[in-house]
Amino acid sequence: MAEYDLLDAAFYNDPYPTLAEMRRNDPCWFDHRLGAYVVTRYGDVSWILQDDDFSAQRVGQFTRGAPEHLRAKVNVYVDSLERWLLFIDPPHHTRLRARLQSAFGPALLPVITVATKEAVRNALGQIGRGGSAEAIAQFAYPVPTHVLAKVFGISDDNIERFKRWTIEIFTLIGAGVADEQAVEAGYRGVVELRDYVVALLDQKRRAPTNDMLSALAAPADGEGGGEISDEDLVGLFMSMIVAGHETTTNLIGNALRAVMLDPTARHRVTGPAELPEAAVDEFVRYDGPVASMLRRAKRDVVIAGTIVPEGSFLFSMLISANRDPRQFQAPEALDLDRPLPAHVGFGVGMHRCVGAFMARVVVREAVQAFMRRFPEATIAKGCVWQRNTSFRGLAAMPVDLGPQRIGAL
Ligand code: HEM
Repeated sequence: MAEYDLLDAAFYNDPYPTLAEMRRNDPCWFDHRLGAYVVTRYGDVSWILQDDDFSAQRVGQFTRGAPEHLRAKVNVYVDSLERWLLFIDPPHHTRLRARLQSAFGPALLPVITVATKEAVRNALGQIGRGGSAEAIAQFAYPVPTHVLAKVFGISDDNIERFKRWTIEIFTLIGAGVADEQAVEAGYRGVVELRDYVVALLDQKRRAPTNDMLSALAAPADGEGGGEISDEDLVGLFMSMIVAGHETTTNLIGNALRAVMLDPTARHRVTGPAELPEAAVDEFVRYDGPVASMLRRAKRDVVIAGTIVPEGSFLFSMLISANRDPRQFQAPEALDLDRPLPAHVGFGVGMHRCVGAFMARVVVREAVQAFMRRFPEATIAKGCVWQRNTSFRGLAAMPVDLGPQRIGAL
């Protein structure tokens, strides 16, 4: 059996050749360093995410290998994340998700659309004067920041602080092996975000405004899941803030990169015809921002001929499943007019993304507007990929903007 190094910088820079080899030769491979199986074929990944034999309760695995003297901080981190929607099973999950969906859904589309256009216009107005830009910090990051701030009813300044907390929390989720630095970061992120959210919840209760967090904080009216505790509400807020921000930033970055590297996609995006919303699903399928999702086997199972014992952890590699030739024709090609691909990049089953409808609007508008304003933009030297087992995105993407097409928005 071959060895694969999923913690190496070379893997983050381009994981796809390694994942293709794993799909072919070792589709359910035990990684001793991660202490988990790595599952790479579409059929297996999609089954694991949907079947009751697998549990989403997995937070303990994020802190695997943590130094013993940091036990108290690890416990605080684990206690907090164990209340997040992403990491709980039914029946608790069913109740919380129903409550969230009563406050967060397509009724918000008009707010999201207006906020997106405003955010894109502002960000594009700030760049383009010097002939070059750092597309993540100057565009992919501020656009979803502003949209989420508007939808949640939080000031842009405050949501800026979420960036740091989210990155700190993600550092520990995706560390692979929890070293001292990752534990300290995760602990700091969780404590500061939790304190902020507790205060915000209190404020929205005392003086409700017309936004999603106020709706969520209001006492339940019998619809949408009934009463839930304050601790659970805090967990819901935290899940939304963390799950929605970095993912959207990373998808805008990954999508812009993909378009700039592919002449056919560039031609399509900068041409007169609007992109369909399904184009965003193709961006997610082609190079999505969620690399893997972890699950725990609730009983002994057999995956691609390998016996996986009860209690084992499994990395379901979404970015690999989405390039599986057993499921997609020409999976290595970015085809923005591909009929809605049945990808797993927004998850599937009971934990599927509640924010996908929002991501589709924000990402389509952002990518189209950027490329139409700078139709000849190219990637310059100095791109840096984040090193994270769960999330895939660029920490920096310098771009030579080329000529500006004025009036294009
Ligand atoms: C490009 C953008 C996005 C991608 C690729 C994405 C991807 C995902 C994936 C793969 C899951 C499933 C997790 C699992 O199975 O364990 C998920 C769940 C979730 N997403 Fe997203 N997401 C995106 C944007 C958003 C946005 C904008 C929000 C909200 C503002 C959001 C909120 C959530 C929440 C709350 C869950 C948990 C649902 C549950 O556990 O029932 N996401 N997302």
